[in-house]
Amino acid sequence: MEQEWQQLNEQVVSLLKTARQQVLQKMQEPLTVAAKSNRKDLVTNIDKSNEQFLIAGIRRIDPTARVLGEEGFGDALTDLKGRVWIVDPIDGTMNFVKQHDHFAMMIGIYQDGVSQLGYIYDVMNDILYAGGPQLGGVWANERQLTAPTDLALSEGLIGASGPLVIHDIAHMQAIVHASAGMRVYGSAGIEMIHILEGKSLGYISHLKPWDIAAGKILLETLGVQVSTIDGRPLDMLSSNLVLVATKKAQRDILQIEEDDVSL
Ligand code: IPD
Ligand code: CA
Ligand code: CA
Ligand code: CA
Repeated sequence: MEQEWQQLNEQVVSLLKTARQQVLQKMQEPLTVAAKSNRKDLVTNIDKSNEQFLIAGIRRIDPTARVLGEEGFGDALTDLKGRVWIVDPIDGTMNFVKQHDHFAMMIGIYQDGVSQLGYIYDVMNDILYAGGPQLGGVWANERQLTAPTDLALSEGLIGASGPLVIHDIAHMQAIVHASAGMRVYGSAGIEMIHILEGKSLGYISHLKPWDIAAGKILLETLGVQVSTIDGRPLDMLSSNLVLVATKKAQRDILQIEEDDVSL
């Protein structure tokens, strides 16, 4: 059984490495960019072609699995029964378009809704974060990660999505004020890498399943808490206001929510 997962992991790593080569090559050509729901919600030809490439590879690796992909090339899911792969082909599309940097590819593998393996690939730095319960840890390429220090909110940096702070949703301004400082990286995947590496203690954002599927698996493997902003389990089939935090910072943030404090 363990060997089966090892083998599957090797196949996913190889698929992601090939996908990276293709993306780097396609980035040499001008991008085709379109707006989805609004002018800040972009999709490019590479988001689409990379999702198609990844899903085709997943179907070869695991023919009976179902796949949920952001750009719609997977299956329409109404439950998480069986093996489900959740794919974000380019996370941080705005960064991808404007910076050609600071974006990630992400895959999360679930079995009957239970975490198995997660992958966040920092494409430009060529660092693949891979792990989960089936591998018994998390690795950044060859380097095994240790669990981040359990910092209290006042002791570390917190990642957030800009609009939450601007509109002060869910006491964001009080949370940021109580932390050591706020960072906004523009990619859920890159935010979660900072937490895995112990560089940030948390992240708060409205996220869809493909934004959080991989990170949830990797973070929880290292003891980081992943919940809704009021401490409930995530619904992996819809959008959630997600709170990722060290144990102590989660406790501090849930207390701010409960106290209903404003600055
Ligand atoms: C987005 C990014 C962004 C987050 C958004 C996501 P996408 O993903 O992760 O940082 O704030 O909520 O939708 O659309 O670039 O894959
Ligand atoms: Ca998107
Ligand atoms: Ca995303
Ligand atoms: Ca995306």
